[in-house]
Amino acid sequence: MSFTVAEPAPPRLNRSEQAVPGSNTRFLEKAAAGDADMVFLDLEDAVAPSEKAQARKNIIEAVNDLDWGGKTISVRINGLDTHYMYQDVIQIMENAVDKIDLIMIPKAGTASDIYAVDMLCTQIEQAKGWTKKVGFEMIIETALGMQNVHEIAAASKRNESLHFGVADYAASTAARTVGIGGPNPNYGVLTDADEAGNRDFHWGDMWHYAIARMVVAARANGLRPIDGPFGDFSDAEGYKAQARRAAILGCEGKWAIHPNQVALANEIYSPSDKDVAQAQAILDAMEEAQKSGQGAVTLNGKLIDIASIKQAQVLVKMAEQIKA
Ligand code: GLV
Ligand code: MG
Repeated sequence: MSFTVAEPAPPRLNRSEQAVPGSNTRFLEKAAAGDADMVFLDLEDAVAPSEKAQARKNIIEAVNDLDWGGKTISVRINGLDTHYMYQDVIQIMENAVDKIDLIMIPKAGTASDIYAVDMLCTQIEQAKGWTKKVGFEMIIETALGMQNVHEIAAASKRNESLHFGVADYAASTAARTVGIGGPNPNYGVLTDADEAGNRDFHWGDMWHYAIARMVVAARANGLRPIDGPFGDFSDAEGYKAQARRAAILGCEGKWAIHPNQVALANEIYSPSDKDVAQAQAILDAMEEAQKSGQGAVTLNGKLIDIASIKQAQVLVKMAEQIKA
């Protein structure tokens, strides 16, 4: 193990993260009463330019007046390339910082972007005498952000999570697709012909590299990797498949851009009883093995070793967090 140990972000349940436009007070009320682990109250792309000022007011009122039932609350500010962002930070931090947990920074491109927001938040916290320090979540959704994802992940002690913003990422990389997330029928391989001359087309996951790269940057820096939006909110099975494949790569949760995706994310990102029982069996078997001085043993016909303990602990810890 390296002598450098990544400090883990504060533990928070982040299976579902619901996007809620700050311009819509009815949606804010519904989200407060919903079942998402986290909400991000949006000042960015779901809010029209003419609505930005009112959305800030709505969010400040909503976080101060509504009962959010213990949810983690984040506010998505506008990008650093807009003239909305400084007012977003100042107004939210000055009027709601004790009610929010996180600021979500969209289109994070370089480590200096995070430094700039950190500087502003630090000044406001000090000026106001706040003792609570707001955390950061960064959306990786541009080619520049993906290039610099490792530096972005390490840019501030406030950092808690990285999110894959698939829609803007597709636009930024000029990917030939217009859907928000999900597979594309043109991304796949045609097999060579078999003896009977048949060929098969296998769909691939065009987002694999991006998510896997973001997961590495997040985990290497103790952050939570979170998968972003899936636009077709009437396709529950499609959503679940996307959530499952991101979970397998190491993501801890997924956005819900519609309330009906919250339960799906909570379901997929909660380890099943079977998974937890299997993980517990590995821990028990390895405890016995270590008592008798063995580093590796066979369980149900498969080799397990000390690395298996760490894998199993991830699942068991997650199940404990969900129960708490
Ligand atoms: C999210 O912000 C996205 O662009 O997918
Ligand atoms: Mg975006």
